[in-house]
Amino acid sequence: MLIKDKKIVLGVTGGIAAYKAVELVRLLVLEGAEVQVGMTAHAMEFVAPLTFEALSGHKVICHMFEQHHVVMEHIEWAQGSDLVVIAPATANFIGKMTHGIADDFLSTLVLAATVPILLCPAMNNKMYENVAVQENLEILRKRGIHIMEPAQGSLACRSEGRGRLPEPVDILEQIRILLGPNDMQGLKFLVSAGPTAEPIDPVRYITNRSSGKMGYALARMARARGAEVVLVSGPTSLPPPVGVEVIGVRTAEEMKAAVLGRAKACDVVIMAAAVVDYRPKRYEEHKIKKEDESLRLDLEKTPDILKELGKSRGETPRVLVGFAAETQDLLNHAQQKLQEKNLDMIVANDVSRTDAGFDVDTNLVKLLYRDGVIEDLPLMSKDEVAGWILDRIKGLLGL
Ligand code: PMT
Repeated sequence: MLIKDKKIVLGVTGGIAAYKAVELVRLLVLEGAEVQVGMTAHAMEFVAPLTFEALSGHKVICHMFEQHHVVMEHIEWAQGSDLVVIAPATANFIGKMTHGIADDFLSTLVLAATVPILLCPAMNNKMYENVAVQENLEILRKRGIHIMEPAQGSLACRSEGRGRLPEPVDILEQIRILLGPNDMQGLKFLVSAGPTAEPIDPVRYITNRSSGKMGYALARMARARGAEVVLVSGPTSLPPPVGVEVIGVRTAEEMKAAVLGRAKACDVVIMAAAVVDYRPKRYEEHKIKKEDESLRLDLEKTPDILKELGKSRGETPRVLVGFAAETQDLLNHAQQKLQEKNLDMIVANDVSRTDAGFDVDTNLVKLLYRDGVIEDLPLMSKDEVAGWILDRIKGLLGL
């Protein structure tokens, strides 16, 4: 989605992180992009061109004089693609770009590029901090080159710091943002995701099977389409989506505070989180001992965040969307929640299926609206479901 059928040129320069570019090609191809790889001579010391050729299905160009066509390939690639990505970009390559040096295929290609360029620097942290590199990056930024900051962490040279090539999934996300239609620019979204965890004692809690995948897909897709996104997330193992403000919470009470405190400033609120409905009435200071044959826990209702939002709705949020996770009588229950919580739309998913709902990458949903209209969507990836939901939200916003 958003990347499908796009033509992306990936330039790989000579750094240890060149191996990560292999995974990036795989992810881009999986998304339906056409990827053409160009490498510097030094990059070939780290990864063989054959690896990229096998994954991209295209010949990799490494040297200026390998081009056989009448139309010079460096010009064709630089002007006929949708995006040029340089990952990893070494200090040397950044320096050459800054000063317009074109002494090999890749540096000539970027000089000829008329399409957006995404530069992903990766190097030793001291090299990255060096004033020469920083000033070069500043110049490139001013010229409109998109620069993805390296990640912090342990580096190949056994030091710690900022200099790691971001993970391929994060680069993919940044590419989505750059290639996205930008049709949600100017809108502010709040999305909730994941479960909540309600503590019983210092070592136990009540939770559910939500992985956060559905909510994170919504947040990522809305961001990729240009929206400003706040993601209120219960405990999950998912990486924070690029460009999204993530607010981590644990309990329903914490989620309520985070959501209600921000909802009024948003155009759209989507509650995809699986908020635990009942929590222990009292929290035991010390681990409950295994003494008796049975144990009774007294539970009380957690606050219904979405219901409170629906009740107190003013001008904002302009669109309020809920989810309904059901194992039976899906439509009736969803319809009831739509009305009770004063929503514009509810996404009903049958969580008794193995290919939908909790902790899988696909979902099968029905979209229900206030006017009684029901849309039945086919089984799709959660990213695709998110795309549909966002399209419908656009309609509800009158865009
Ligand atoms: O996270 P994944 O593994 O990707 O799984 C996705 C999902 C199944 C969690 C998601 O698609 C989904 O259905 N989320 C809503 C789950 C749920 O709690 O449904 P519900 O029918 O119990 O609640 C209805 C709505 O009220 C939901 O929007 C929920 O966020 C909200 N709610 C519920 C209880 C509560 N105390 N406060 C709430 O705001």
